[in-house]
Amino acid sequence: MTYESLAREKAGLLMEKRHARVLAVESSCDETAMAVVEDGRRLVSSVIASQIDMHALYGGVVPEIASRMHVQALDPLLDQTLQQASMTMADIDAVAVTYGPGLVGALLTGVAWAKAFAYASGLPLVPVNHIEGHVSANYIAHPDLEPPFVCLVASGGHSHIVRVDDYGEYTILGGTTDDAAGEAFDKVARVLDIPYPGGPLLDKLAEEGDDHAYAFPKIHTPGPYDFSFSGLKTAVINQAHHLRQAGEAINAADWAASFRRAVVDALTEKTIRACRDSGLTRLALAGGVASNRLLRREIQRLGKRAGLETFMPPAILCTDNAAMIGSAAFYRLMKGEIAPLSLNAIPSLGLIANGEWGMGNGEF
Ligand code: KG4
Ligand code: ZN
Repeated sequence: MTYESLAREKAGLLMEKRHARVLAVESSCDETAMAVVEDGRRLVSSVIASQIDMHALYGGVVPEIASRMHVQALDPLLDQTLQQASMTMADIDAVAVTYGPGLVGALLTGVAWAKAFAYASGLPLVPVNHIEGHVSANYIAHPDLEPPFVCLVASGGHSHIVRVDDYGEYTILGGTTDDAAGEAFDKVARVLDIPYPGGPLLDKLAEEGDDHAYAFPKIHTPGPYDFSFSGLKTAVINQAHHLRQAGEAINAADWAASFRRAVVDALTEKTIRACRDSGLTRLALAGGVASNRLLRREIQRLGKRAGLETFMPPAILCTDNAAMIGSAAFYRLMKGEIAPLSLNAIPSLGLIANGEWGMGNGEF
C-alpha cells in the first residue's frame, strides 16, 4: 500500500469518528512551535521556541537564521510536546503543518519535517494556512464559538477584516492597503529606540502615556472596511525626526500612547462597521496585534455598545503558536483535505486558496 492510500484510508476513519488528535507544526516566521490538539477544540500541549533574542541582535528577523534555528528546534520540540501531553507517537492520529504564508525557508523546514513525520508514521498530512490558524485560535479559547462571525486578523504581515462564513470558508471584507498593523507598530517602535519586536514593548510603554499628547493625521482609506497605516507611520516617524532636530525632547510614553490610539481607532471603527453592515453579532480578534491591550479594551467596550458578543484568545494564542494550527487542521481533516508528499511551501498563500497544495496563490 502506498503512503498516499494509507493516509487517505486513515483520514476516512477519522472522518467517520469525527475524532482526531493532531500534532501541529508552525515555523512560518521566528517561532518554532508544536502542539497537540484534540478534536479542534481541546489543547493538550503546546510548546513555543522563540527566536526573538537572536533576531533582536539584528533589529528584525533574518530569514536565513530563522530557517537554521527551526531545523535545530524541531526534533527537541517533538519530545517536549509529547512529554507535556503525556503521549507517545502512537497516540497521534494526524500531522498538520503551516505551508504559507510566511518566509519561504522557514516554512520549508516545517513542511519537510512534517512530511517526513507523516511518511514515517503513515499518518495523514494536513496543510494549514497560517492566517486561518490565527482565526482558529478562537476555537480553542472559546469552545462554544461557531461560525458565522466577523474576525479582525491583525498580525505582522496581515491586517484584514474577514467574515468567517463556515469552518474554512471566508469572505474578505477589507484590509490594509499598505502596511500591516504589526509592521507599523514595529517600525514606529524603532524610532523610539524600542528593541525588536517593537509592538508588544510599545504597547507596554503606551499604558503609561497620554494618548492625547500628540496629534497625528487621521487615516483616510478608500473602502469602508479598509485601513492604511503607511501614511500615519511616515508622518509619525518624520515628526519625531523634526522634533529631535529642533532639540525638543520626545516623551516616549506619550508618543507611543498617541500612535497606538490612532492605530486602534482605525482598526476598531472599521471592524465595528463591518459587523453592523453584515448583520453579524459575533466579533473575534486574531493575530499578534490582537494581544494589544488597548485594542482588546476598545473592542470589548465598543462591541458591547454595538450589541456584539466579542471573542479574543489569550495573548499567548494571539501571537504565533501551533495550537491554532492544530485547531484549523481538524476542520480541514474532517473535510478530507489532506496533502500528498509533494506539498510545497507557498510564501504568499492566500486565505482563499485554490486548493491545490503547492500550486498557485489565492486572493488576500
Ligand atoms: O501573528 P504574529 O505573531 O506573527 C505574524 O504572523 O506576523 O504577529 C506579530 C506582530 C508583530 O508585528 C508584533 O509587533 C505585533 O504582532 N504585536 C503587537 C503586540 N504583540 C505583538 N502589536 C501591538 N501590540 C501588541 N501587544
Ligand atoms: Zn502569525
